[in-house]
Amino acid sequence: MNGADRLIVALDVARPQEARDLIARIGDAAGVWKVGLELLYGGGIELVRELADQGQQVFVDAKLLDIPHTVERSTANIAALGAAFLTVHGHDIKTMDAAMRGRGKSDLKLLAVTVLTSLDDDDLKQQGSAMNAADLVLHRAKLRSEAGFDGVIASGHEAADIRKATGTDFLIVTPGIRPEGAATGDQARIMTPAKAIQAGADYLVVGRPITRADDPRAAAMAITRDIENALG
Ligand code: C5P
Repeated sequence: MNGADRLIVALDVARPQEARDLIARIGDAAGVWKVGLELLYGGGIELVRELADQGQQVFVDAKLLDIPHTVERSTANIAALGAAFLTVHGHDIKTMDAAMRGRGKSDLKLLAVTVLTSLDDDDLKQQGSAMNAADLVLHRAKLRSEAGFDGVIASGHEAADIRKATGTDFLIVTPGIRPEGAATGDQARIMTPAKAIQAGADYLVVGRPITRADDPRAAAMAITRDIENALG
């Protein structure tokens, strides 16, 4: 995989046409297109099918969490669209097992969301968690191993510990990426692209630093270069 293959662009826009425009501008500077909740609820489901039919790698960031029956059948529908990746909240094994059944024999890779990168220790305390973010991420990363998921979503701050605790046979996908000097926005646990790769991330998820740049392709290429330099 080259640097671009490891770059997932979060297409956090309202309508499919805006996403198509961004994809056309970024081109081969990124390897995976992430369709999140905003776009999924704005006509993005058909865009997932359209991009998959074109041979593009599509990441459906649906962050599923529901009763097992619903998670299983939703996962099966998303697999049928031709998506390459799907996120499921990794809070419990029941939910993850249901997603495993739902993907069946498809190539869909399942990623567990550990703790959203916008949440810090105080936010978790507010939710009633006795664990801090680092411990809860690690705890949930181990659950994903038991469930047989392909990997986890985790911030760069936790990537090294997760890698140590669970070995190399799984994917660490890291959002909360901010190149030096970029605006933080609502993200709490951020890291630069190079540091996240050095910490053990396999893929980086980058939204606003690319999609809101004057030149999204140049922004993506700068991150791709950082990834390649960090990989040596
Ligand atoms: O614009 P920005 O680079 O902050 O976008 C990050 C993307 O990664 C968003 O689409 C967000 O939903 C997603 N994400 C995240 N933290 C997680 C899981 C997904 O920021 N733990």
